[in-house]
Amino acid sequence: MKTTRAVRLFTSLTTWTGPRCLAVVMVASSGAKALAAETSGDQLNAAVRRIAIDHCGSCHEGSRASANPAALKIFDLRDEDWTARMSDEQVLKLNGRGKSLRPTDRARLTQFVARVLENRKASSQ
Ligand code: HEC
Repeated sequence: MKTTRAVRLFTSLTTWTGPRCLAVVMVASSGAKALAAETSGDQLNAAVRRIAIDHCGSCHEGSRASANPAALKIFDLRDEDWTARMSDEQVLKLNGRGKSLRPTDRARLTQFVARVLENRKASSQ
C-alpha cells in the first residue's frame, strides 16, 4: 500500500533527521505566522517594545537601578515613542545591537527599524 510506504518513509526520515530538526521547522513556521500577524504597526511596536524591555531594558529603561546614563541618552524605554530622539543612523544601529536576539525577535526588530525609517521618510515629504 502506498500510504504505509509513505508512513514508513516519514518514520525513517524522522529518525534520520532527528526530532530536534522537526521542532526547528515547526518553530520557524510558527514564527513566520507570528510575523505575518504583526504587520499591523501597533502589534509590531508592542512586540518590539517587549523584546527591548527584556533584552535591552537593564541599561535602556530609566526606571531600573541598573540603567546606564549613556544608554538612556540614546533611548529610554519608558518613553512611549522611544525611538523619537534617535537619529536615523542610531535607529539603523538597533539591528546591529540586536544581533544576539533569537531569529524571530531579530526579524521583528529588523521589520520595526524599516518601518520607523519609512514612517520618517513619509512624514518628511
Ligand atoms: C549592558 C548595558 C546595555 C544593554 C543591555 C544594551 N545597551 Fe545599548 N547601549 C548601552 C550604552 C552604554 C550605550 C552608549 C554607548 C555605546 O554606544 O555603546 C548604548 C548605545 C546603544 C545604541 C547607539 C549606538 C550608536 O552607535 O549610536 C543603540 C542603537 C543601542 N544601544 C541599542 C541596544 C539594543 C537594541 C539593545 C538590546 C538588544 C541594547 N542596546 C542593550 C548599553 C546597553
